[in-house]
Amino acid sequence: CSSVPESLRFDCYPERNVVVTQELCESRGCCFMESDRPWDSRGGLPWCFYSPDFPSYALESLNQTELGLKGLLTRKVKTYYPRDIEKLQLSAEFETDTRLHIKITDSRSPRYEVPLEVPRVRKRAENPTYTLEFSKEPFGLVVKRRSSGTVLMNTTVAPLIFTDQFLQISTTLPSKFLYGLGEHRGSFLHSLDWSTLTFWARDVPPTESYNLYGVHPFYLVMEEGGAAHGVFLLNSNAMEVALQPAPALTWRTIGGILDFYIFLGPDPNLVVQQYQQVIGFPAMPPFWGLGFHLCRWGYETSNMTWQTVKAMRNYRIPQDTQWNDIDYMEGYRDFTVDPERFNTLPQMVEDLQKHGQYYVMILDPGISSTHPPGSYWPYDEGLRRGIFINSTQGKPLIGQVWPGLTAFPDFSNLDTHQWWLENLNLFYKHVPFDGIWIDMNEPSDFMDGSTEGCSPEELDNPPYVPAVLGGSLFAKTICPSAKQSASTHYNLHNLYGLMEAKATASALIKIREKRPFVISRSTFPSQGRYSGHWLGDNRSEKKDMYWSIPGLLSFSLFGIPLVGADICGFSGSTSEELCTRWMQLGAFYPFSRNHNTQNEKAQDPTAFSPAARTAMKEALLTRYGLLPFLYTLFHRAHLQGDTVARPLFFEFPQDEATYSIDRQFLWGRSLLVTPVLESGADSVIGYFPRGVWYDYYTGSPVNSSGENLKTAAPLDHINVHVREGTILPTQTPGLSSWVSSGNPLRLIAALSQSASAWGDLFWDDGESLDTFERGDYSYLVFNVTQNTFTSTVLHSNVEATYITVDTLAVYGVREQPKTVTVNGKETPFSYLENQVLTVTALDLGLSQGFSIRWL
Ligand code: NOJ
Repeated sequence: CSSVPESLRFDCYPERNVVVTQELCESRGCCFMESDRPWDSRGGLPWCFYSPDFPSYALESLNQTELGLKGLLTRKVKTYYPRDIEKLQLSAEFETDTRLHIKITDSRSPRYEVPLEVPRVRKRAENPTYTLEFSKEPFGLVVKRRSSGTVLMNTTVAPLIFTDQFLQISTTLPSKFLYGLGEHRGSFLHSLDWSTLTFWARDVPPTESYNLYGVHPFYLVMEEGGAAHGVFLLNSNAMEVALQPAPALTWRTIGGILDFYIFLGPDPNLVVQQYQQVIGFPAMPPFWGLGFHLCRWGYETSNMTWQTVKAMRNYRIPQDTQWNDIDYMEGYRDFTVDPERFNTLPQMVEDLQKHGQYYVMILDPGISSTHPPGSYWPYDEGLRRGIFINSTQGKPLIGQVWPGLTAFPDFSNLDTHQWWLENLNLFYKHVPFDGIWIDMNEPSDFMDGSTEGCSPEELDNPPYVPAVLGGSLFAKTICPSAKQSASTHYNLHNLYGLMEAKATASALIKIREKRPFVISRSTFPSQGRYSGHWLGDNRSEKKDMYWSIPGLLSFSLFGIPLVGADICGFSGSTSEELCTRWMQLGAFYPFSRNHNTQNEKAQDPTAFSPAARTAMKEALLTRYGLLPFLYTLFHRAHLQGDTVARPLFFEFPQDEATYSIDRQFLWGRSLLVTPVLESGADSVIGYFPRGVWYDYYTGSPVNSSGENLKTAAPLDHINVHVREGTILPTQTPGLSSWVSSGNPLRLIAALSQSASAWGDLFWDDGESLDTFERGDYSYLVFNVTQNTFTSTVLHSNVEATYITVDTLAVYGVREQPKTVTVNGKETPFSYLENQVLTVTALDLGLSQGFSIRWL
C-alpha cells in the first residue's frame, strides 16, 4: 500500500455519506491510509484505495478480426458489488487512422446500449496514428500516439470493475490540460485536484460541482507539444468522472457498457471534428436564428409582449425574434393559449412575421393529467395512444410540473413523435410559430419520482449512486424504474432532451417545411443535429457573465455550436452597467437571447437609459454586421464540425499561455472577442497571441509578442480584433436579419505580415431545408496576395445575384497606394494613417468573381 504515490491513489470507496473506516475499506480488500489532506464528500485524496494487486480481469484470449482485435476477459474473484459480469468481450476496432473504437460488453448476454446511430466501418484503418497494447493480468490497455509515443490512455493503473450496475475504469492522462465533460459550471480548463464531475440530467440553477441539465461524456486533452486527443464514452447511464492530479481520471457508470471512442486529432480542431463524425454534425440554423432574440418570463399578456417588440422597433434596435415563456398558456398547459391575457397573440405573431420577424414559444414535456376527460386533447389522446411513460405498475407515471400533476411523453416511442406533431399542427393553425423552445426536459419534476414515490428496487435505488445532487436518482425527476418503449428510464433519463428535440425538429420540418429552430435545455451527444442550447437559469451577476464563456466553449466541444446564456442574467436583478456589458458579450454568443425571470425588472434594451440603450444597440448592430461571417461559420460547423465560438488554444495550440483562457474567445479562426467582465472598468486586459491583431472597428493594428495587453473599454465599447491573414464578409446591418441579408457587403481583409489573407462566404436563402445538400447555395473564397484581393465563386445559385459588394477595407496596407483598380479599371480610394485602405461604391455583383489591386 505505501508504495502507491498519493497522486496515483484510485478511490476504492467513493460512496458518499459514509465515513470510510479502516474496517470498511479493508472489507473491500483495499488499502487504508489516513492523510492530513482531508477527504470530503465531493472528492479529495482518498484514504481507501486499490493496491497494485487488487484482483481484476485477465485477458484470456486475443484474436485478430477484420477491423481489429477481439478478446475475452475473465474475472475470478468477485468484487464488492452485486452481479459481477464474469466474462467480458473486448473489441478494438481500428476505424480510421485517427479513430480507435474500444468496446467492452458482457460476452454472454446483451446489455443496454445507447440507441445512437454511429458510423459503420467496413475497412480497418491502414495507417493508424495510434498503437494499442494490452497487459494480460491484471487486464489493462494502453493507447499511444504513434508519432511521439505519448501514452494517451493507460488503464493498467487501477482494476477494471464490470458488474451489472457498477462499471469502473481508470486511466492516466498525458497532461493536466483537460476540457469537456459537461454539463458543468466552472472554468473551461478542469482542475485535477481530486474533483468529481457527475452526469445525470438535472433541473437546477447552475452551481459548481452539481450535475446539470445535460450530459456529455467527452473530453479533450492537450498533450505536451500542442497535439490533442479526445475520448468519448458512449454511455447514457448515471455516471461520474473522478479527476486526480496524477494526472488521471476514473469513469464510473451504473449501467450499459463501456464503449469508448478515442480521437487522435492531432490538432484540437480535428479532435472535435472527429468526435462529430461519430455523433453527427450540427444542423444548419436558419439565418434568422442568428439574429437577436428577446424573451422573458412574466410578460403578463400578449399586448405586453407586443409592446416590447414595438418599443424595440421605436428605438431602432435590431431584433429578429420575440419569445414567450409559459405565461401564454392557459393553466400552464401545453398547446393552449390563455384566451383572455393572450387574446391578441395570433395578431402579434402576424405582425412579427409581416415585419420579417419571428416568434418562438416555450413547451414543457409535462402534460397536465387532471383536466376533466374530453377537455384536454393532448392528455386524452396521449392516454388513448399509450404514449406516456409508465410506472412499474404499467400506468402513466404522474409527477408534478407547472400545470400541476402531469404525465410525461415517452419520446423514445415513434408514436409519441406523431402525437407531438399532431399537437403542434393543431396549435400552429392558431399560432403560426417559427421555432420552439423546449424546457424542463431533464425531465424536471417538482416531486421526487412520482405521486407514489419510487420503488425500493435496484433501478430506483442502485447499489452505487453517483454523486448526484439530492443523493438519489429520482431527486426532482421521474423514477428511474419507469418504463419507456426503448428501455427503462434508468437507461434513457439522460436522453430525454435529445429525444424530445428530435421529435420537435422533425415536427417543425413537417409543419413549416423550412429549417427547424429548436433550443433545448437538456442535451446529450448528437443534440446539435436537432437543437441548440442555452445555459439555463443563471443569475444577474458578473461571475455568471464570466461563466457563460466556459459554457459556450464547452458546448463547442460537444458539437452544439448554437449556444448562449441568458443575457443580463435570468434570476436576480441586473444593473444597467452589468446588462450593458452583458449585451455586448451576448452580441457575440452564437445564440444571442436576453431572458429574464418573472417578478424582476425589465432588462430588455428599451428598459434602460439612452446611453445604455445606445451601447446595446451598437453591440447588436455590430453582430448584425457580422452575420454573413457568423453564418459561414455555422455552415462550416454543419459541413465538418468546425467550432463557431472557439477557444484560443484551438488556433494557437503551440502557445501554452492560451490553454487556460476562458475570459476571451474567438469566432472561427479570425475574430477575437475580449469582453469586460468586471464592474467599474474602462479598460480590459486580454491575451493576444503572437502576431498582428487589428481593431475590428478602426483597423488599427496591435502587434503582440504573445502577451497580455490592456485596451480601452469604455462602457459603450466591446473589444473585438481581427486576426492577421483573415478576411471577414460583413454586411450593412439592418434592424432584422431579413433586412440585413439584402444589404451590400463590406469585406474586411486583415493582412498578415507577408501581406496575404484568406476568407470565405456561404450564402443561401437562409431558411430552406438542406440547401447545401441540394446544391442550392453560393460559396465564395476570398484571397489577398501580391496586393490583389480576389473573390472566386466556387459554387453559385440565384441568392448571390441579389447581393452586391459595396466596400473593401484592407487593414495593414503598409504604404499608401498610388492607384487602385477594380477588375482592371482605376477607382478612387481612401488611405488612412492607421494603414487602412478603403474602396467604396464598388457595386460588384456577388455572383461574379472580381479582383481589386493596389499599387
Ligand atoms: C425554467 C427555465 O430554465 C427558464 O428559462 C424559464 O423561464 C422557466 N423555466 C419558466 O418556464
